[in-house]
Amino acid sequence: MSRKLGHVIIIILLILPFSSSFSIDTPPAPVLEYNASSTLSQSSIIRGPTVNLVTNHSALIFWRTEGPTDATVHYGLNASLLESASNSTLDSNHRIALSDLQIGSTYWYQVRSNGTSSSVYDFKTAPADGEPFKIVVIGDNRPGMGNWDRQPWVFYQLAEMIAEERPHLVIFTADYVWEVTEVHEDNLIAWKAFTDIADSIGHYAPLYGVIGNHDDGATTGERRLEYFFDAFELVNEPSTYYSFDYAGVHFTGLDSEVWGLWGRITGDQYDWLSNDLATTSYDKKFVFSHRPLYPVSHINSALDVNKAERDRLQTLFEETNVTAYFSGHDHCYNRLTVNGVVHFIAGGGGARLYENPWGGLYHHYLKVEVSASKIDFVSINRYGNPVDMYSLPDEGPIEIDIRPFGNESSKPAGTLPEIFFSQVPQTTYYSWDSESNATALTGLPSAVGSHTLDIYAENDEGVWSHIRYVLNSTPLVTLNTNTTTSEELPMVPIIVTGVLIGVVAVVILFVLKKRL
Ligand SMILES: [Fe+2]
Repeated sequence: MSRKLGHVIIIILLILPFSSSFSIDTPPAPVLEYNASSTLSQSSIIRGPTVNLVTNHSALIFWRTEGPTDATVHYGLNASLLESASNSTLDSNHRIALSDLQIGSTYWYQVRSNGTSSSVYDFKTAPADGEPFKIVVIGDNRPGMGNWDRQPWVFYQLAEMIAEERPHLVIFTADYVWEVTEVHEDNLIAWKAFTDIADSIGHYAPLYGVIGNHDDGATTGERRLEYFFDAFELVNEPSTYYSFDYAGVHFTGLDSEVWGLWGRITGDQYDWLSNDLATTSYDKKFVFSHRPLYPVSHINSALDVNKAERDRLQTLFEETNVTAYFSGHDHCYNRLTVNGVVHFIAGGGGARLYENPWGGLYHHYLKVEVSASKIDFVSINRYGNPVDMYSLPDEGPIEIDIRPFGNESSKPAGTLPEIFFSQVPQTTYYSWDSESNATALTGLPSAVGSHTLDIYAENDEGVWSHIRYVLNSTPLVTLNTNTTTSEELPMVPIIVTGVLIGVVAVVILFVLKKRL
């Protein structure tokens, strides 16, 4: 063999592995089982499929195709997918109801439109009342202003983890996008970025969402709910609040963004809620909404925007034995139990975290495992590690917490902190600066500087809890401390304003006179 021929053979041997005939790992091109004789157009699946509104015997499968197609769901208790349900009416949005499903079972399914098939996914039907099941709560995945057309990477991570959890259902406590604008095309882009990720969970479990302050076009001057309703398949649409039962638990979703009543659960919605909570026969009740009753960073702009209404809502929860309330809005994790009602803020779904005196600054989702005798709550951070673990019934001593300003906060003298107990105490004592115990809480002492507040609470088994906070008094009057009396302060702006109005009036009269 000549030296030249040897070079040619070496070159051919080097090239061959990169040629197509040697690319044995290359996946085959998708084979579409297209029926050439069909009059239907070829269309690809551009959203879903997702499983929705699952009960112990039914489910709704949703998907969207690029153009109008037929629709079939193949499903079954194993990967053979022996059963099917179809709709021959051509459409782009496909909703196929599956009925007569077996209780507490895993089903596999695949959708098909004009011969184009989806992957095979699985979901669980609801178990019998009282049987164990798992839910996940996640909130505030939204991007920031500069990234409005995509989603935070953390949300991708958390969604992947949640899908692997295979929960029975997932609750989203809102703020899905940066904003809803007047530009329809921009809204489609922003919401597609969200649904692309949310649907990766929705393949396997029904998603239930409520609306957040970023999701309905508050900045456009009109409420635009069409994108929210497109993202979720919900009960009672177009109502933005709803309830449903699942495996012995009553779930109620609320709308904290009612137009003109932001941060308030009032009017018709409150009346509906009162009836909803009073009439359910289930003793486990989960309520969820976007804004918390006891915020840690959005103080005075959550459901505490109207404190009387906030307190009325809490009283309703206590009287109707609500088990837990889930929210977001504050970008952190927080748990606070008030008189037996556990409040979770699960706002770490991907948005930038918000500093607050209570901490909880980590991205997370909340896993809730329910059984007849116990409920386990655990927050899972983005690395898959459990952070806060809590169980009901809570047989521990009373937990004590403070709002609306946290430990080591500074407030004007006299300011009264709100103290909350996880259960109604038999006895409580308060003591400022280690002085004698008082049965009523008074405000921050007047002496400027650091003060200690000791709080003691006794539960119905005679077990005492104690916590100490350090709070700083600032001067009561901080504006213009050289002024002799505060009564004189309002006079200054009134006189200045009066003089200014007079000068402007003289100028206007002068100009008008010259023009005439
Ligand atoms: Fe929010």
